[in-house]
Amino acid sequence: MGVNKITVVGGGNTGITTAFLLMLKDLGDIVVIDLPQFTNTVKGKTLDIFEAAPLLGSGACVVGTGDYRDTAASDLVVITAGLPRKPGMTRNDLVKANAEVIKSVVTEAVKYSPDAVILVLTNPVEIITHLAYKYSGLPRLKVLGQAGVLDGARFRTFVADDLNVKSEDVTTLVFGVHGDDMLPMTRISAVNSVPLENLVSPERLEELVRRTKGGGAEIVNLLGTGSAYFAPAAALTAMASSILRHENRLFSTVTNLDGEYGYRDVALNVPAVLGRGGIERIIDLPLTPAEKAVVDKSAAEVKGLLAAYV
Ligand code: 2OP
Repeated sequence: MGVNKITVVGGGNTGITTAFLLMLKDLGDIVVIDLPQFTNTVKGKTLDIFEAAPLLGSGACVVGTGDYRDTAASDLVVITAGLPRKPGMTRNDLVKANAEVIKSVVTEAVKYSPDAVILVLTNPVEIITHLAYKYSGLPRLKVLGQAGVLDGARFRTFVADDLNVKSEDVTTLVFGVHGDDMLPMTRISAVNSVPLENLVSPERLEELVRRTKGGGAEIVNLLGTGSAYFAPAAALTAMASSILRHENRLFSTVTNLDGEYGYRDVALNVPAVLGRGGIERIIDLPLTPAEKAVVDKSAAEVKGLLAAYV
C-alpha cells in the first residue's frame, strides 16, 4: 500500500506509460481509468505493470477500471484522456473533441476526489487546463498542466547532444504556449551555470530552438499515427513527484493566470514551484519587450480559440 493515491485518466500509450513510471518511482497506489468499453484492456495493462513492481523494488498497487468510484480519494488526478494529433494537424485542431472529453472527466473525477490536485496533459493543453479549472470548481492553483517540462526536456536533449554534455546538466525554461510560439528562454539557459550563449553560436542556437518548437510534430510525422508518449509521461511523472513528495521543484507549468504577467482567464506556461498543494507559488520573471510581445500574441490566440470553440 502506498501513501498516496494517484488516478491516471486515459489508458492509451501516455496514460499507461505514466502509470508505469509512477509505479517505478513508487509514488503511490495507481488507478488507471478508461472508457467502460476498454475496461478489460486497461485491467490487463495495469495488471502487467503491477506484476513488474516486485522486480523493480516498488510497493505500488496498480489497477485498471472503467468506474470512477474506484478512483475515490485520490491525491492526484493526471488527465491524459483525449485524441492525439494526426500528421498535418495542429494541437488546436483538437479543441472541440477534447473539450467535450474534459467536461465529463473532470466532473466525475472531482465528485470522488474533491481534494485532489489535477494535472492535465490533454491537448491543446492551455485550453484544456483552463476548462478543467472551470469545470472542477477547485481552487485555481490546484489545477495545472504539463507542456513546458516536455518542451524543456526536448531542448535539453538537443543542446546536450549538440555539445556532447550530459542532458541533466542543461537547464532551460520554456515560457508561453505549447505550440509554434513557445518561447525557449535561451538567454537564461545554461550548462551547469555556463550560459548557453557562451557555448553555442547564435545560428546553431536558433536551429536547436527551431527543432524544439517542432519536437511534437517531428514525432507525430515519424509515427504516422499517434503522438509522443515516453517523454510526455516522464514529464508528468517529474511533476507528480514534486507534488506528491512536496519537493518544491521549479517547473515551467501551465498555470491558470489571474493577473500574473498581466494575464487573466487564460492558462499559459510560467515558472512555478510545485508541491503538495499543487502550484505553491508562481515565479515572477521579468520578460524583455520582445518576449512579452510573443506571449501577448499567444495569450490572445488561446483566448480566441477558447471563445470560438467552447
Ligand atoms: C507533444 O508535443 C503530444 O503535444 C505533445 O508531443
